[in-house]
Amino acid sequence: MRCTSPSVALALGVVLVTLVSQCYGQLSIGYYSDKCWGHNVEEIIFSAVKAEFVKDPTIVAGLIRLQFHDCIVRGCDASVLLDGPKSEKTAKPNSSLRGFNVVDAAKAAVEKVCPGVVSCADVLNMAARSAVFLAGGKWYYVETGRRDGVVSQVEEALANLPSENLPVRDAVHLFASRGLSKEDFVVLLGGHTVGFTHCEKFDHRLYNFHNTGKPDPRMHTGMLYALKKMCPKDGSGADNKVYFEYNPKKHYHFDNGYYKQLLVNQGKLEIDANIGRSPLTNSIVKKLAYSPDYFVNRFGSAMVNLGRVGVLTGNQGEIRRSCRAVNH
Ligand code: HEM
Repeated sequence: MRCTSPSVALALGVVLVTLVSQCYGQLSIGYYSDKCWGHNVEEIIFSAVKAEFVKDPTIVAGLIRLQFHDCIVRGCDASVLLDGPKSEKTAKPNSSLRGFNVVDAAKAAVEKVCPGVVSCADVLNMAARSAVFLAGGKWYYVETGRRDGVVSQVEEALANLPSENLPVRDAVHLFASRGLSKEDFVVLLGGHTVGFTHCEKFDHRLYNFHNTGKPDPRMHTGMLYALKKMCPKDGSGADNKVYFEYNPKKHYHFDNGYYKQLLVNQGKLEIDANIGRSPLTNSIVKKLAYSPDYFVNRFGSAMVNLGRVGVLTGNQGEIRRSCRAVNH
């Protein structure tokens, strides 16, 4: 692999950067530039995601979340993509993951022109970047060169995926244990600017906050009223979808609206509300709420940092032919 200096690559710009590689530790930008007979892997994946996005713009949230759920369990090794009776995707917190079909389509598109070369872990990271961009976020350079894992266990997903009620201090520790800073954590949670959650994930905040028999006293009154309607007390609406963003035009628009909502007590999940309140994270939330540019720029670098967690490289793992099954 040929590597070049970051300054040269940046000067070359987005098209030519895929012709030379920029090295970062074990991964590099443009890793596939000389491995697919001149085919531009990043462009192929972007086109495949775009084709799905045009049919269903909601997939952006699914893809961004998929990268997180892959990387936080066993590292970014595409273990979340594997099918199987006891694989990670069978864990309850993964039951609402979406976008597997989009990753399959992107992988199929690269396999067609460059078989057995591009890992599913890399396809997923590039697909998530494409999603951020298509939703109005900023394009960022994805490091590549990951290989795919061959293990995927439901117990590991259950043990490592954070609960929506995880205290901020514990969440910061969890991310730190993966090499991610407190700011990376708060910025990545900005993924909650797109997509939805379900009533069951937060309805204790509406009716029985921390066993008080009352709502979370600091929840925005208007939002409390609206959410109670969508999520009745008898639990009959447990599976109802509630968008993180109020404005329907922005349900899938990537901006810093999430942090603005947090500052007026309109976070949906307990973890959302808590990062707005905690002295550990409150100043970061304010910075992101007041500076839209800072958020869109910083989100890309946080995703790159997330994409470095526990990667397999060199002779480790394999390059899967189908993202849903290990090679035989
Ligand atoms: C402590 C950390 C986190 C917790 C506790 C958490 C929790 C959740 C929960 C409970 C949901 C809703 C699931 C459902 O109702 O079915 C959700 C959705 C989502 N999460 Fe997170 N999350 C965390 C971090 C992240 C990060 C780091 C990202 C992105 C990098 C992310 C991106 C998303 C997205 C995009 C959705 C919407 C998915 C969709 O519409 O399909 N989350 N998260």
